[in-house]
Amino acid sequence: MLKITFQKPASQKDLLFVNINSKNKDEIIKENGVKTLYLKCDEENKMNPVRNREGSQRPSISNGMNLRKLFLLVRKMIVMAKSVKAEKIAFSFDDFKFKNAKITDEELGEIIGSQLDFANYEFVEYKTPTKDGFSFIKEVIISGVDKKTEKALLKGHMIAEEVNKTRTLANTPGGDMTPKILAEKAKEAVKGLSIKVTVLGEKEMERQNMRAILSVGRGSDEESKFIIMEYWGGPKKEKPIVLVGKGVTFDAGGINLKPSSSLLGMNMDMSGGAAVIHTIALAAKMKLKKNIVGLIPAVENMASGKSYRPGDVIRSMSGKTIEVLNTDAEGRVILADALTYAQKYKPEVVIDIATLTGAAMVALGERMSAIFTEDDELAKTFEKIGEKTGDYVWRLPIWEEFENEIKGSLGDVTNVHNKDSRYGGAIYGAIFLHQFIKDCKWAHIDMAPRMVAMAGENLATGAVGSPVRLLYKFIEEYKSTKIFNKENLGG
Ligand code: BES
Ligand code: MN
Ligand code: ZN
Repeated sequence: MLKITFQKPASQKDLLFVNINSKNKDEIIKENGVKTLYLKCDEENKMNPVRNREGSQRPSISNGMNLRKLFLLVRKMIVMAKSVKAEKIAFSFDDFKFKNAKITDEELGEIIGSQLDFANYEFVEYKTPTKDGFSFIKEVIISGVDKKTEKALLKGHMIAEEVNKTRTLANTPGGDMTPKILAEKAKEAVKGLSIKVTVLGEKEMERQNMRAILSVGRGSDEESKFIIMEYWGGPKKEKPIVLVGKGVTFDAGGINLKPSSSLLGMNMDMSGGAAVIHTIALAAKMKLKKNIVGLIPAVENMASGKSYRPGDVIRSMSGKTIEVLNTDAEGRVILADALTYAQKYKPEVVIDIATLTGAAMVALGERMSAIFTEDDELAKTFEKIGEKTGDYVWRLPIWEEFENEIKGSLGDVTNVHNKDSRYGGAIYGAIFLHQFIKDCKWAHIDMAPRMVAMAGENLATGAVGSPVRLLYKFIEEYKSTKIFNKENLGG
């Protein structure tokens, strides 16, 4: 993590100054021994010099800027500075103030604070450093910041820290991130915080009749775990927000073994679980006055003589039976029990987060997660927070009629379309989950599209730590008039 300071640097040696500029290309210029990175802004043509209070000329952008471009611009600054091996950079906060961004200085501070570290991250745990080490930015000096904005910048920095830890969990190879290790990492993540972590092993899960989770994990030599994290930071009587995260530490597909090309990256199939762990850690660090529960069914989906089979019928914890038509649709099977368990808490709202379907990526591309809920207000809230945080979500339907295609012939529900259709796969994942959570405010986030970064995002390849920022902001703002006030929803 880089250090953010607000002092004017004593020495300009080794310092890279950054200037948002109307030059038509990004360039680094050395003048009188001072190195400056001129970052071209997309809005170059629309920039018109205005006089600020000090009377000096600085460019201001009258239109065209938006949050999406702003996220990218902050990250580009870091990526370019890293590419020339700079370790210390300095810029003026005012450089990132754009008229059309329509945000307060504090919001801008939080965005900059989080995007700096977000872009600086790279997963180098398994790499041998070269002679001069890895190139990371160590310090960022920001001028022109008032006390309130300073606080916001540091808050953004803390958010990014948890996002980056989420990325590290997800990036870790499958052999080093088993269900047992994931459970240990959950405990480590909240060390010193008032969060209670309970880990159920297979024996305890049997006692709870969590046969859906146990069935999926049975093909693996690694013991399945059910991770429970409880943070009671809110009023005693307040019902908790329950976050459920898919924790498949490696998804080989089971007996419906994945083709070679689809196996790589399946160590990240616990990304939803990782996001839940670090969202709760962040909420506790921020001392949010909220009650939050995190549930992570952690299993490895392997092919062996002990694996569950296509055609098996499992009696889930809820009592409903699941007819397994495809062992590679394992995420929804383990989440069935986790969603059943979630309702023990009489939750205010349940949100599950899962790298559930490749079909979500077919539908939406790789820039946003799919969100499913019957609750319009919940959907709008998430869409809005998505725009604010950069963890974008797009709503897809879960109409009742989709239930027709998951009616079982042996069991109650099939885990994939009962006619093996290629269409609407993400929706069938969602409608399956819905069978295990009715009469409860619930949303399902299929984050498969956001499991890894895509080219052009100015982010390291690998995990992106989605949707920690979205979940955190959702919890932070939950029920505050800010989001649940109808007028705000409209805008
Ligand atoms: N973990 C995968 C989905 C996935 C694929 C996430 C690629 C991220 C990137 C999930 O368990 C899976 O295998 N889904 C199947 C469902 C199918 C069998 C109905 C899929 O998407 O092919
Ligand atoms: Mn699978
Ligand atoms: Zn999976």
